[in-house]
Amino acid sequence: MSVAVLLLLGLGLPVAAEGRRNRCFFNRTQEFCECYNLSEETAASIIQCLPATVVEFWGGDLEKYADFPIRDLDDSVIDTLGSLLIQKIIIGNVLVPEVLLARVLRFFSYTHVRELAFESCVFQGTGDWSDMDGQNLPILSLSFHNVTCAPLTGHEQAFSSLSTWLGTLKELAVTGSRVTSLPCAIGRLFAALHSLNLAHNSLGDGSLAPAFCQGAFPQLQQLSLRHNNLSSYHSVCEGVGLLLRLRHLDLSHNELMADPSSSCQWPSSLQHFNLSNTGLDEVPAPLPPRLEVLDMSHNHLHAVDISLSSMKKLFLNQNLLRAVPSIRNCPMLDTLHLDNNSISELPRDEVKLLGRLQDVAVAGNPFSCSCSGAGGLQALAATGHLGQGWPGDYRCHSPAQYQGWQVAQVPVSVLRCDPAAVVAPLCVAQALLGVAGAVCLARSRSCHRP
Ligand SMILES: *[C@@H]1O[C@H](CO)[C@@H](O)[C@H](O)[C@H]1NC(C)=O
Ligand SMILES: *[C@@H]1O[C@H](CO)[C@@H](O)[C@H](O)[C@H]1NC(C)=O
Ligand SMILES: *[C@@H]1O[C@H](CO)[C@@H](O)[C@H](O)[C@H]1NC(C)=O
Ligand SMILES: *[C@@H]1O[C@H](CO)[C@@H](O)[C@H](O)[C@H]1NC(C)=O
Ligand SMILES: *[C@@H]1O[C@H](CO)[C@@H](O)[C@H](O)[C@H]1NC(C)=O
Repeated sequence: MSVAVLLLLGLGLPVAAEGRRNRCFFNRTQEFCECYNLSEETAASIIQCLPATVVEFWGGDLEKYADFPIRDLDDSVIDTLGSLLIQKIIIGNVLVPEVLLARVLRFFSYTHVRELAFESCVFQGTGDWSDMDGQNLPILSLSFHNVTCAPLTGHEQAFSSLSTWLGTLKELAVTGSRVTSLPCAIGRLFAALHSLNLAHNSLGDGSLAPAFCQGAFPQLQQLSLRHNNLSSYHSVCEGVGLLLRLRHLDLSHNELMADPSSSCQWPSSLQHFNLSNTGLDEVPAPLPPRLEVLDMSHNHLHAVDISLSSMKKLFLNQNLLRAVPSIRNCPMLDTLHLDNNSISELPRDEVKLLGRLQDVAVAGNPFSCSCSGAGGLQALAATGHLGQGWPGDYRCHSPAQYQGWQVAQVPVSVLRCDPAAVVAPLCVAQALLGVAGAVCLARSRSCHRP
């Protein structure tokens, strides 16, 4: 149930009648309900949201209710809340007085709501959160996107009152909200958190070590720091060093410098590492030792030499590579993406290795369509493992006669491509022809002999 409905019920406002404008729209096929402009008037049409599993509230101003006394709920209302199907609530473009939020949040304990998301909301003032002391909530996933609130430092009391619930939360996202730091004590409250998304904020190198201090986020497996203000690979490594269960780390869209000699060790649990779009011109070292998926697409890499025996998927598209990197030291590799590089040829022995992978992509490279160039790619395509893009996005760059052609259309006849291989059969053919000719001649002579 939404904050609004709880609020309205709590306030004892009439949940029917009032304004006749229908402001909630229930989508029966998708089972979601959208309500616009939160107010008493919206309440009448909220009734139709009862069968929905997702309810969205957009717009409205709750400020005027901030001082309303909220009564305890009576048994019938509690029963109603318990029978609702709603699993997810999205609240967007709303001004939320914290006093109000603090008072209605505990009503969620009577519902089955598992996800609560705030988008483009402004949280105002500070509330008295003592009603939430020791209180648990069914909400496991909490997200804030583009929200504005008072600095976290003013919220110690709220966080300590919410600690029972926060200690059970599994997923938290605070994105696009200009976050610059996260106090150490806050991370320690999130004892069960698996996933933390802090994308599109302003976290700098120095903010990580305090945020991920000893005892903070002890169960964290996924961390996204995409699109922040990080610049040192080494500092990031040091900053997340205490997250011993971390499996996925997303650093994409930061401007990273690969310090030449970093002695820092990444958590050995790290399997999935995203360094896409980080301005790197070389592969940084060290890499996490048990990596399975590495995305270094959209960088300025000229050469790549990776030997990690656990590596399964390697994304190197959109770089400056001139040659296919050696994959001999990656026995587990099944996926290799090399689209949009500067690769002109796939050597024959590389084609053999690449052909064993499940998913190879080399589209958008300036291919040389010599016999071996076009032939190698055609042979690779014949294995059926060349990903999407074949044949349309594989084009010849040279020689001039094939420029702009699809590689697939270049005639790779044995006669033209491998003269050595054709010499022997040709001799045989000539010899046979010679024999045939001789026989024929002999016959014709004998035939015409009177
Ligand atoms: C329900 O939602 C889907 C997906 O957003 C949309 O295509 C469809 O038109 C909606 N149906 C109604 C009745 O609004
Ligand atoms: C972010 O939220 C503010 C309201 O707090 C809103 O005016 C603005 O349009 C939102 N920005 C985006 C990109 O949604
Ligand atoms: C990003 O970090 C640099 C220092 O590394 C700092 O000067 C700059 O103000 C930061 N930018 C933002 C948006 O926080
Ligand atoms: C890495 O991050 C980018 C965006 O930041 C995303 O498009 C890409 O899918 C991610 N790569 C992997 C392997 O998840
Ligand atoms: C390659 O570049 C083209 C054109 O810029 C783009 O459309 C395509 O998405 C890129 N492919 C990859 C895998 O980066």
